[in-house]
Amino acid sequence: MSYCLITLKKYGELIRRELDRRNLLNGSFRIKAEEKHLILPINRELTKKELSTLSKIDLTIEQSFSDTLLPTKFLPKSHLDVLQECFSEKELDLTPRSFDTIGDIVVIEIPEELIDKKEAIGSALLTAHSAIKTVYAKAGKVEGINRIRPVEFLVGEKKTKTIYKEHGVRLAVDITQAYFSPRLSEEHSRIANKSKDNEIIVDLFCGIGPFAIPIAKKVDAQIHAIDINPGAIALLEENIILNKLRGTISPYCGDCRKVIDKYKLENVADRVIMNLPGYAIDFVDVACKTLKKEGGIIHFFEFVGGENPEKTIVEDISRELEKNGRKIDSVHEVRKVRMSAPRQWQMVADVEVI
Ligand SMILES: C[S@@+](CC[C@H](N)C(=O)[O-])C[C@H]1O[C@@H](n2cnc3c(N)ncnc32)[C@H](O)[C@@H]1O
Repeated sequence: MSYCLITLKKYGELIRRELDRRNLLNGSFRIKAEEKHLILPINRELTKKELSTLSKIDLTIEQSFSDTLLPTKFLPKSHLDVLQECFSEKELDLTPRSFDTIGDIVVIEIPEELIDKKEAIGSALLTAHSAIKTVYAKAGKVEGINRIRPVEFLVGEKKTKTIYKEHGVRLAVDITQAYFSPRLSEEHSRIANKSKDNEIIVDLFCGIGPFAIPIAKKVDAQIHAIDINPGAIALLEENIILNKLRGTISPYCGDCRKVIDKYKLENVADRVIMNLPGYAIDFVDVACKTLKKEGGIIHFFEFVGGENPEKTIVEDISRELEKNGRKIDSVHEVRKVRMSAPRQWQMVADVEVI
């Protein structure tokens, strides 16, 4: 708690200098900025005469007592703690609590109302988290065939590439070159835990390898990893070298439909990974083609809305399998991966297909 002076922001610096000259500033507390005012901590109650001298600079100056000033040695736990000093209550309410951390790079969604304050939010993230080196703002939706999100540089080191660590694997990620989401971390390890030694696995939309690398780290499987984006395949190749793997990964750059034909990958797979939600349904024929004749497992990711997304995703893939002369033998697991839009989920269905 400290006595303080409330002054208009435009006179704040003049008043601060005057208080400093008279040794009246309380150095144990931080100066707090509100929308129009500065709150300056002082080390004792000022006399009427002292106040009237200061009111020659700011007519509206007021003396008060505050218990909301932050101590100088205060270590912020989050960007919100840092912003408390310069954001209004409304701005703090609008500031996002969560963001994606990929290695030492943060990608945050800035609400429309705070566009003018985006650099302040970025700087607050750098101040609050010493491990963060760079902050980007989302600049649009994940788009295009390569599924890359446009981003806008805000503050920090000007770089787009970093090393992301999860479940004992290291992944080189470049947020401008290929899709990657840390929100799928649990899925990456869940599918690795289901994979077995000696399996042949086809990852139809492998990206930088967040499924293929943990699988090959855990089991001695042979993984065919396909992606249409050369940037993703270049990062996958780096990631194969970065990690000590038990299994083998063969990267292929191209449209999975053409790759399966060109490299004779028909009837080979015990397990197929299909993480291209929104479009995976159009590639069920490719999964059927690469799956062994006697059957195997498909991990099918899709965006699903409605009352019963668990039922819908199974019905959707089942319909498509039957068009391709296959059917579901059993459903191993169906789960919600994450909310992708209001009342819409990214879902995954693990189905045994014959
Ligand atoms: C949603 S991302 C998932 C990547 C990766 N599995 C992951 O979880 O990070 C989908 C990927 O599919 C790739 N892709 C899109 N169409 C493709 C196609 N026809 N054949 C192969 N890859 C494709 C994109 O380049 C992108 O990297």
